[in-house]
Amino acid sequence: MDHDEFEEAVAAEPDLYIDGGRPLQGDVQIEASKNAVLPILAATLLTSDPVRLPGVPWLHDVDTLCRVQRSLGVDVSREGRDLVVQAIDVDPFAAPEHLVRRMRASFLIAGPLLARFGAARVPLPGGCAIGSRPIDLHLKGLVALGADVQAGSGYIEFRAPRLHGANIYLDFPSVGATENLLMAAAVADGWTTIENAAQEPEVVDLANFLCSLGAEVRGAGTTELRIHGVRRLHGTTYQVISDRIEAGTYLVATAATGGDVTVGPVLPEHLKPLLAKLREAGGEVDVQGDAVRLRQRGRLRAIDLKTMPHPGFPTDLQAPLMAALSLAEGTSVITETVFENRFMHIPELRRMGADVKIDGRTALVTGVDHLTGATLHASDLRAAAALVIAALAANGRSTVADAFHLDRGYADLEEKFAQLGAQIERRSSCSEVL
Ligand code: EPZ
Repeated sequence: MDHDEFEEAVAAEPDLYIDGGRPLQGDVQIEASKNAVLPILAATLLTSDPVRLPGVPWLHDVDTLCRVQRSLGVDVSREGRDLVVQAIDVDPFAAPEHLVRRMRASFLIAGPLLARFGAARVPLPGGCAIGSRPIDLHLKGLVALGADVQAGSGYIEFRAPRLHGANIYLDFPSVGATENLLMAAAVADGWTTIENAAQEPEVVDLANFLCSLGAEVRGAGTTELRIHGVRRLHGTTYQVISDRIEAGTYLVATAATGGDVTVGPVLPEHLKPLLAKLREAGGEVDVQGDAVRLRQRGRLRAIDLKTMPHPGFPTDLQAPLMAALSLAEGTSVITETVFENRFMHIPELRRMGADVKIDGRTALVTGVDHLTGATLHASDLRAAAALVIAALAANGRSTVADAFHLDRGYADLEEKFAQLGAQIERRSSCSEVL
């Protein structure tokens, strides 16, 4: 779905129509990771050579960042499923506010623009449904690397003739802050250490991508990154890792519907936190090379769950797994420690008959023997995924409004679920005849 189609879709207010109660069966193809493609796309600003990223999925968030890049003067084109990017004549002050506000990950252009061009103006990313999403750790780290930071009205202006290495300690292992600082340090003068760094697989993929451009990065995947800045980076062709959150979403839908599904290609070690929880909940998990099969025979068992930075359980799968656990035997205790407001899916699940009590950042989910289809409204990408999973497992028909949230992070979602036997289709909501 390209940008214009997406805008039309939003305008048409499409709904997903789902008739639930059918176990999912079969195989599903997993795409390249949205949360690896986005920082890697930002990192292409660090070189004037061409960069080719094969097999990048058509996702709205990817399209948004491509539009931001084009606004900066970057040449971004599609050759089949490959994304080809070349940042030669870049205006580091031209990032468009309406696009950066729409998608927080656009702020990842700040580090590379500043590092390569010595100055940048970047609109402030909006908060969003799941939290205020501050950028204090990004700014603190860039200042440590030598940046002068001035806040304007709705934007930040950065200046640094030359960035220099620094020892940075992140108060929280922020994924985005780690990524922004990693990109800036890659071409700063001297050595940089980033302690309490994020260890997510997508951060490791960004580090590997930077090394393929000629950067010197050590410790990726640990809490301490060491970067030796180089003067210049060259082009590359780089295959981005597969999307562990997309794969996890289909596995959780399989658990919720009592199905038997194989997802691939995946990197199983990236799915370990989820696979451990699915086994605990009674699923039969088979790891087969770069594929994972889940068979859910009988009712899910309740489990306790706490989201944590990697290698803990990923916050992006908290809402989807809660939808499945709303049908489990027993009461699950789910604690969201990463974002301050990531329970917006709960009122919608309750409308389907789920029994969920909220106590601050903890939800008590007492399984019911069935959910009933309802008209549902999604608030954000992963909450929308949770509602689709609940609808697939529920008795009867559901509609999921605001389905455009799903297009931000899931390619061909209806088609993939339909191939697994789901009754799911997208229709424009017919306007009421007054
Ligand atoms: C990335 O967001 C992902 N997005 C998110 O996925 C994911 O949920 C999140 O990491 C956590 O894993 C992309 O990679 C594009 P953070 P990011 O900075 O980088 C606080 C999805 O659905 N914080 O690790 O924004 C922040 O408020 C999306 O695909 C600060 O306080 O996450 C939050 O509470 C949603 N100050 C916590 O850290 C800062 O300067 C985690 O945020 C930065 C962050």
